[in-house]
Amino acid sequence: MSRKILVTSALPYANAPLHLGYIMEAVQTDIWVRFQKMRGHDCIYCCAEDAHGTPIMIRAQQEGITPESLIARSAEEHRRDLAGFLIGLDQFHSTHSAENVQLTRLLYDRVRDGGFIARRAVRQAYDEQAGIFLPDRYVRGTCPRCKSPDQYGDSCEVCGSTYTPAELIDPISTLSQTTPVWRESEHLFFKLGAFDTMLREYVAGGSLQPAVRAKLAEWFEAGLQDWDISRDAPYFGIEIPDAPGKFFYVWFDAPIGYIASFEAWRAAHAASFADYWESETSSELYHFIGKDISYFHTLFWPAVLYGAGLRRPSGVFVHGFLTINGQKMSKSRGTFITAQRFLELLPPEPLRYYFAAKLSSGIEDIDFSLDDFVARTNSDLVGKLVNIASRCAGFIERGGGGLAAALPEPALYDEFTAAGERIAALYESRDYSAAMREIMELADRANRYVDQHKPWTLAKNPARAEDVRAIATQGLNLFRVLMSYLAPVLPHMAQAAAAFLGTRIGDWNAIATPLLAQPIARYQPLATRLNPQAVAALIAPPLAAASGEAPASAPASVGIDEFAKLDLRVARVAAAELVPGSDKLLRLTLDLGGEQRTVFSGIRAAYRPEQLTGRLVVMIANLAPRKMRFGVSQGMVLCAGSESDASAAFLLAPDSGAEPGMKVT
Ligand code: MSP
Ligand code: ZN
Repeated sequence: MSRKILVTSALPYANAPLHLGYIMEAVQTDIWVRFQKMRGHDCIYCCAEDAHGTPIMIRAQQEGITPESLIARSAEEHRRDLAGFLIGLDQFHSTHSAENVQLTRLLYDRVRDGGFIARRAVRQAYDEQAGIFLPDRYVRGTCPRCKSPDQYGDSCEVCGSTYTPAELIDPISTLSQTTPVWRESEHLFFKLGAFDTMLREYVAGGSLQPAVRAKLAEWFEAGLQDWDISRDAPYFGIEIPDAPGKFFYVWFDAPIGYIASFEAWRAAHAASFADYWESETSSELYHFIGKDISYFHTLFWPAVLYGAGLRRPSGVFVHGFLTINGQKMSKSRGTFITAQRFLELLPPEPLRYYFAAKLSSGIEDIDFSLDDFVARTNSDLVGKLVNIASRCAGFIERGGGGLAAALPEPALYDEFTAAGERIAALYESRDYSAAMREIMELADRANRYVDQHKPWTLAKNPARAEDVRAIATQGLNLFRVLMSYLAPVLPHMAQAAAAFLGTRIGDWNAIATPLLAQPIARYQPLATRLNPQAVAALIAPPLAAASGEAPASAPASVGIDEFAKLDLRVARVAAAELVPGSDKLLRLTLDLGGEQRTVFSGIRAAYRPEQLTGRLVVMIANLAPRKMRFGVSQGMVLCAGSESDASAAFLLAPDSGAEPGMKVT
């Protein structure tokens, strides 16, 4: 029976490029969706740009553009990257859309009418110069526990303690570098606690992963708190109808973006809103997300839906985080690999396969090891899978006349097709790594078959021509079954293989009948070995490489390799300020396209702080951090000038059009 399934990936924020962590999530989702479609189910994959919130508003201000143009640009880049990784979305919409505004207000009206909204005053840090209330991460100061300077408003990176911005010693707004004041304002709260019983039952009955259930038990134990869903103007978001000057917090309207995206899709298709969003039995709804956003998806979201009289998700599929060579992705280590960077260097399908080979239904982190990636691709995809096709194709071509009329070993073929239900069950439960193992074992089996029958020896004897054709026909049919199993993971390769075999791949059950007595096309390589150098180039030179271990006397000339160790980047001056107690230095906050650095630069004699804010500079991003009397300097900006006259300093800047984070070569 055909199922109706709606699937989503988390909505990417509109102020950052997609990185391989997000791509892993999209690939995990896409494989599942493609698999369901191959099984003949009615499966829709919706996603959207998460367009609202303070960071997006500030980012647009810093770039001197409107938030609308920022989110439009980012949506275009995200679409391009997702297409580059063959993510087969049915709809990619935006939370800044008419559908989302209308739906957000509808859901809000319903939960308010249900009595699930409370109002009360909140004291919050306010930046008088910038004129806005400050989210916790925009306040920095000295940790109240361990007294480390320059920590975030909600937690200390040195001692790990958490606190409120009001507890920080000497708090500073990162927007204006001024001391914030404390102001009261009325906020709206969603009464999550009112759904305690419903949520406990939902969690007990649902198909959540064991590790997620364990986390939920802790959250229930800690007690469900009211959730602040409002923010004061100025805020880039959706205004609250009955609270003028107040906006919905971005996390309130973001998941509603799932519905908005579905609505945008529905506008061009015959489907019923009620089937997907009102009934819990006439369709299935699944969200793929990372573990960091479980609370939103397993508690707030089902409660909001339920409170608004809508269906709850049938499942929330949580995955772990992607690490690179065993470590957290990090810009300073050069391991923050963007989707775009990857696609500049390498094709997408080996990575899709690699993710599939590592992903399970658990929430453990997944490591992208560069060496393992090369080894896996070259051994599994090229050495095992494609090898079957490439070694058999020539015999059919040279023999002329196409595939044989019968399989010499139908039992072996049946063994391959019989694995189909087992592999399908593994895809269904998202145990992709187990599915890939099964498929590769079958690939080994197919290669063994060819090895045992040695068609290359038989081919020397013209009398055995039909035997050779039969063996190659068997091999190619086994290959077709495997390509069909792998089509959710390798959609382009499957298409190319289908074109070569003169068939279509797209229906899970089509393999029931082998391909016989028909021509095949000329074989073209379906995958090539990965070049380890291209893979190594994914990682920018590490931070340590340029750190002060230079020989005592610098050589007169440096090789290009030496130069390449410098990680030169375009940065935008997000803030510049005087350093009390120093007449030489300015403290610069540099934005590297998402990551911020503090750099102390000896240009005070040449520049006033207000001349610098917003402009682009060139910096050495991997200079070893230097501890100074005023704080740690995390890099250096490049200047032309004279060593003897500090007022003759001229900052180097890229031509207009360059963007923060760009590599300078
Ligand atoms: N905008 C919110 C989601 C709103 S959904 C209604 C958000 N965006 S995000 O861009 O920060 O993250 C999007 C998804 O990428 C999340 O599911 C997150 O867990 C996932 N990942 C972010 N970094 C990741 C890794 N390093 N590895 C794997 N997934 C990661 O949160
Ligand atoms: Zn601390």
